[in-house]
Amino acid sequence: MNNKFGHNTIRDPKITIEKNIERKKPILDREPQLFLGVPLPSWIELSLIDVCNRDCSFCPKSDANIAPNTYMKMEIKLIEKMISDLKRIKFEGSFTMCGYGEPLLHPNISEITNLIGQFWGIEIVTNGDPLTKKKLIELYNSKVSKLVVSMYDGPEQIDKFTDMLNETNIPKDFMVLRDRWHKGEEFSDYITNRAGTVTNGKQIEVKEMKDKKCFYPAYHVQIDWNGDIYICPHDWQRRNPVGNIMQTDFFEIWNGKIHNKYRKMLFKGKRDELPCSTCNCVGTVHGSKHYIKWLQSWIK
Ligand SMILES: C[S@@+](CC[C@H](N)C(=O)[O-])C[C@H]1O[C@@H](n2cnc3c(N)ncnc32)[C@H](O)[C@@H]1O
Ligand code: SF4
Ligand code: SF4
Repeated sequence: MNNKFGHNTIRDPKITIEKNIERKKPILDREPQLFLGVPLPSWIELSLIDVCNRDCSFCPKSDANIAPNTYMKMEIKLIEKMISDLKRIKFEGSFTMCGYGEPLLHPNISEITNLIGQFWGIEIVTNGDPLTKKKLIELYNSKVSKLVVSMYDGPEQIDKFTDMLNETNIPKDFMVLRDRWHKGEEFSDYITNRAGTVTNGKQIEVKEMKDKKCFYPAYHVQIDWNGDIYICPHDWQRRNPVGNIMQTDFFEIWNGKIHNKYRKMLFKGKRDELPCSTCNCVGTVHGSKHYIKWLQSWIK
């Protein structure tokens, strides 16, 4: 079935995920950058704000015991400190603004993207609800590289967002529309348990993944609104930060003892400690080049 723009509105979530993996490969799996012989992340994820207007059943945000809406938000001074740390190590990777909430609810998002976008690419992942034509233009003009919209309601959202984009002069490839409205078993094919916090759907058993390698901490880093750094975006329990960027230099945390302890365990397929011991995520989709570089850096 085609909509008025000729888009096929019957979508297959598997194809959407495969396309997303392919789109991200040149960003995430680029040749790892080294600083003092240490591989740097290719992808920094910021959780700008600890609130969401939705409560999707498959997302830990729907459970107030795990991820309550605290309304806390990242401050500009944290962004400035992070930029200064990253410039010192000549960081060449990119940013994603996604995290533990809805990034477009941050009232100063354009100020933040203007600051970061002077130096690095930025992707925003949003549920699209706060999006208006004005907001879309504002984001495009404030150095955002890509806007990824998760559509949870249905195929009619393809028209809504395509109309909005067509009313501007913004290049069509600025916006990526992802169908996430699927329910039932086809849907559970792509969800993970977010480190033991989501039980919906027909998911892989945690015990099946217990001895599987994970490369997330090789190439990705997660920074929460208050500067706490986590080893991956799946850790919704947020009990074990590996450092805080307001207190410690970014590179010191990234190459610190705790972060490296997780890498050494996960690169051997040992998911023995929290949050990994409760996680069912396949962690090797991206990051194999970083994994090799980390191993080489420890031999030297
Ligand atoms: C947590 S949301 C944050 C950004 C924004 N609120 C959104 O929904 O796009 C980031 C991404 O995680 C996805 N997501 C949420 N829960 C998930 C789960 N249990 N497994 C896999 N992906 C999940 C969402 O569909 C979305 O694409
Ligand atoms: S998936 Fe996104 S929109 Fe849905 S509850 Fe989670 S954070 Fe909110
Ligand atoms: S095993 Fe799971 S929780 Fe641990 S780093 Fe990998 S994705 Fe994150």
